[in-house]
Amino acid sequence: MSTTSKVPPLTYRIIAECSTTKARVGVMSLRHSDVDTPVFMPVGTQGTMKGILPDQLITLDCRILLGNTYHLGNRPGTKILEKAGGLHKFMGWPRSILTDSGGFQMVSLLQLAEIDEKGVNFKSPYDGSECMLTPEHSIQIQNVIGGDIMMQLDDVVKTTTRGPRVEEAMHRTVRWLDRCLEAHQRDDDQSVFPIVQGGLEPELREKCVAELTKRKVRGYAVGGLSGGESKDEFWPTVHICTDLLPKDKPRYLMGVGFAADLVVCVALGIDMFDCVFPTRTARFGCALVESGQLNLKHKKYALDMRPIDDKCHCSTCKSYTRSYLHHIATMEAVSSSLLSIHNVAYQLRLMADIRQSITEDRFPDFIKKFMSAHYEGRK
Ligand code: GUN
Ligand code: ZN
Repeated sequence: MSTTSKVPPLTYRIIAECSTTKARVGVMSLRHSDVDTPVFMPVGTQGTMKGILPDQLITLDCRILLGNTYHLGNRPGTKILEKAGGLHKFMGWPRSILTDSGGFQMVSLLQLAEIDEKGVNFKSPYDGSECMLTPEHSIQIQNVIGGDIMMQLDDVVKTTTRGPRVEEAMHRTVRWLDRCLEAHQRDDDQSVFPIVQGGLEPELREKCVAELTKRKVRGYAVGGLSGGESKDEFWPTVHICTDLLPKDKPRYLMGVGFAADLVVCVALGIDMFDCVFPTRTARFGCALVESGQLNLKHKKYALDMRPIDDKCHCSTCKSYTRSYLHHIATMEAVSSSLLSIHNVAYQLRLMADIRQSITEDRFPDFIKKFMSAHYEGRK
C-alpha cells in the first residue's frame, strides 16, 4: 500500500478563533487542494461553471467547486465519467470538488419527485422516464464522479413544512445516512458528509445531531434552510446545530450565499457555504457590490465610466466600465460571463476578508462595518 493512501482524504485544522463569536478560521486539506475556511464554494452544476473557465477560477484563487450528482449522473452519465477517469479530469479542474447527492435538486427545484423509504422517485426532465435515486445509487454515482467530499442522500422538506412530515424526514435522513455509508466504496479517497435535517424544530435538530455524531464521518452539513423562512427562524436553527456539532470538524451550511447570511453564519460557527445566487444573478445582469447589487441593465449606468467596484481585482473590473457592461447587458453570453467572474470574485474576496478579520481578532468590528455598508441607503 502506498503511503499516500494512509493520509485521510480530509483533515481539518483550526488556526484562529474569534474571541466573541463562534467564528473560526481553518484549513481543510483534501486530496486535490487545501481549502481555507470559512469558504464559499461556487456551483458548477453540470460540470461547468456557466461562463467561467477553470483557469479563470484558479486566477480567482478558488480552491473548491460544487457539482451535482443528479445532473452529472444524467449527463454525461457514469459511463462517460468513468471512462474520463472522474470529473476532475473530465472538466479539467485540478482542485477540489464537492458533490451534492441529488435528492434536493429533484425535490425542491424540479418538483418532479416523490419520496418513499427506498429513495427519491422522479420523472426525468430530459426524456420523461421514471427513475429511482436511492442512497446506494447516489453514492455509486458520486464514487464515479470522484468528488473529494460527497453528500449523503437526504429527505428534504420545504422549510415552511410543519408537523409529522418534518420528523419523518429527519429520521429517514439518518436511516439513509447509514445506507450511504454502507454503500460507499472509496472511503480512503472521498469523505461522505451527513446532513442535519429537522426543519425549524429545535428538538428535531438536536435529535438529528445526536444521531449523526454517533457515526464515523469527517464533517457535517446543515440542510433544509434558506428556503423562504424568516431570518428569525433561519439563524437560530443554525445556532442550535453549531452548538451541538463537534468543534474539530468542518460544518457546511447548504444553499446559503447572500453576503449578509455568510457574515452572520460564520459568526455562528459555519465553515463552508455554496449557492447558485452569485452566478444566477449575474445572468440577470446584476453585479454584487458592498452595498448590495447593481442592476447593470438600468439606463443610469449608460454613461457610468467607473468599474463595477474600484477595489475589486477581477479581470472584469480591470478592463470594463459599468457603461460597457450596460451596453452588452442584452448580449447574454458575454455579459453573464463577465458578471459571473466579478460575482464569484466578490464572494471569494468577502470570505478572504472575513478570514483575515478573524485571524486578527477583529471580526465583530468587521461585522459592524460590513452591515452598515451593506444596508446603507436601504433605510
Ligand atoms: N442544498 C440546499 N439545501 C440542501 C439540503 O437540505 N440537502 C441537500 N442535499 N442539498 C441542499
Ligand atoms: Zn470585479
